[in-house]
Amino acid sequence: MKAKKAEKKNEIVGKINLKDFWVKTWKLLAPSHKHIMQVAISIFFIEALNLVGPYILKVIIDKITTLDVSQFGPIVLLVGAMLLISQTISIVDFLFTDGKIFTILADMTAYLYNNALHKMIFLDLNYHERENTGGKVVKISRGVDKINNLFGSFFWEVLPTIFQIIFTAIVLLWVNWVFLLLVSIFVPIFVFLTLKINRGVYPLRVSRYDSEEEAAGIMAQSIININTVKSFVQERQEYRKFKKATEKVKNVFNLEYGQLLRYNWIRNIVIDLGRASILFFGVYLVIHGKITVGSLVFVYTISEKALLSLYRISRLYDRIMESADAVERLYDLNLEEPEIKNPERGIRPENVRGAIEFRNVSYSYHESNAKALDNVNLKISSGCVTALVGPSGGGKTTVVRMIYRHYDPDKGAVLLDGRDLREYDLYGFRKFISIVPQEVEMFNTTICENIAYAKANASMTEIRAAARIANAEEFITNLKDSYDTIVGERGIKLSGGQRQRIGIARAILANPRILIFDEATSSLDSYSEKLIQDAMEKISKNRTVIIIAHRLSTIQKADKIVVLEHGRVAEVGSHTELSQLEGGLYQKLINLQKVGDVG
Ligand SMILES: Nc1ncnc2c1ncn2[C@@H]1O[C@H](COP(=O)(O)OP(=O)(O)OP(=O)(O)O)[C@@H](O)[C@H]1O
Ligand SMILES: [Mg+2]
Repeated sequence: MKAKKAEKKNEIVGKINLKDFWVKTWKLLAPSHKHIMQVAISIFFIEALNLVGPYILKVIIDKITTLDVSQFGPIVLLVGAMLLISQTISIVDFLFTDGKIFTILADMTAYLYNNALHKMIFLDLNYHERENTGGKVVKISRGVDKINNLFGSFFWEVLPTIFQIIFTAIVLLWVNWVFLLLVSIFVPIFVFLTLKINRGVYPLRVSRYDSEEEAAGIMAQSIININTVKSFVQERQEYRKFKKATEKVKNVFNLEYGQLLRYNWIRNIVIDLGRASILFFGVYLVIHGKITVGSLVFVYTISEKALLSLYRISRLYDRIMESADAVERLYDLNLEEPEIKNPERGIRPENVRGAIEFRNVSYSYHESNAKALDNVNLKISSGCVTALVGPSGGGKTTVVRMIYRHYDPDKGAVLLDGRDLREYDLYGFRKFISIVPQEVEMFNTTICENIAYAKANASMTEIRAAARIANAEEFITNLKDSYDTIVGERGIKLSGGQRQRIGIARAILANPRILIFDEATSSLDSYSEKLIQDAMEKISKNRTVIIIAHRLSTIQKADKIVVLEHGRVAEVGSHTELSQLEGGLYQKLINLQKVGDVG
């Protein structure tokens, strides 16, 4: 498992190169392209203007070195011009660059977040089951954050430096080609070193990321499972485990940065050598009267600036390499396509009768080779109550998920009113179905909003009526804030049975044609269960109802009972028929439950 993960990582980083990185980031930022181009143009002009100042300085120095008093007037003018240029740069910076960059960054952040969440919400269950929740959130926030940082640096550092280097090269060539030659020797050495550093620290970085993830995992697990930690008195052990993991992160971090700093020192030496050689050669040219002192100052100033920028940009490259993985993951999310395809121009029925049929349906989950459903043939008649029973893992929940088209069958087809589900618009048919799932999911808002989740404009009267039918009214009115009580994350402030009743009220309010209860009464005591059964009977009129239950008492009155075992339909019939089937699975289940509490 671990090896596989490392392999995947290598594969990811193996794919990354600088060009790839920018291309991918560029693609992620489609809506900001126009603004980015505008800013790039204004940066180009600023960098060109930036050469004018040093050039004026050159002219001034050249005039001073002639020691001619009559030059004083023009020099004053030149100094004025320098100030003017400097101010122009500030204004252009302010109007067309900095302000715009902030706008772009803000736009970019909003766009990336929206885009990522939109993508994620519309991806199907297959994807969500594959990735863990913490991972998904981190993927988005880290990716957006890194892109934002990097793009800030791109505008403020990379782009100016690129233009600067181009302009500097032109000036050097113009003053004396040997200068350009010198720079062309040192810059590649510098770039080479930068690449080498990153290759060198790369294994350490991967190892740090792994240790960080491990530490984060330990932290998350011990917080999520805090109840278990406490009941088994494992606080100390958990803390020790976490401390050990952070220790590892610290050690790798020190190694990594130790190496980086050593290389930085070598990079500094290269820059110093470059500087010195330009100065030496420049002085040589001045002494031999080939260039003026002013020209030397000019060349030295701009090449100094370019070298420093180069140094800055190399630090940025280090950062890019550090962020590449995060950007890559965000980019990959963008490329994810739901496996469940919504057909173009799918049927959007005005209403459905609610007859469901499984024809030779087989399905295996991605991670498993075993068939969760194995050639299932099943008819769920419209307006009837059909019960699914059978041993745990038999495939009952999978049947329900197929009805929602959360998954498509590997073989066979699921039909609604005689048409393959794949012909319907996904959202067009799902709105006719409601489910009370095994685990009712709750949003951290009021009970009211949780019940009205599928019908946001429901009136208070409707909400109360639904709660009453679900037998939830009594406990709700006993809560401190009644219907306005905030239920806590994942409904933590409610008991399992209370959550289920909210789930039932939610489904009732949605008023669907097809109503599914997946173990909806499993967390209730016998008395509440009885009340819910009555409620279910009431709301089952004129609807297609599918009930999954382990307690057979819940389903005795169903029109049809389907027994599922190992993903296959083992028996079908009414309660009376099946209970008389000698040696049948249903009969066995009844006999087992007779021994227990339910008769
Ligand atoms: N998301 C999943 N990924 C992989 N395998 C799954 C997944 N969900 C279910 N399975 C497997 O598919 C089989 C059928 O599971 P299913 O949830 O349909 O059973 P069930 O009849 O609803 O069981 P229970 O009564 O315990 O709820 C099981 O073997 C289960 O391990
Ligand atoms: Mg189940």
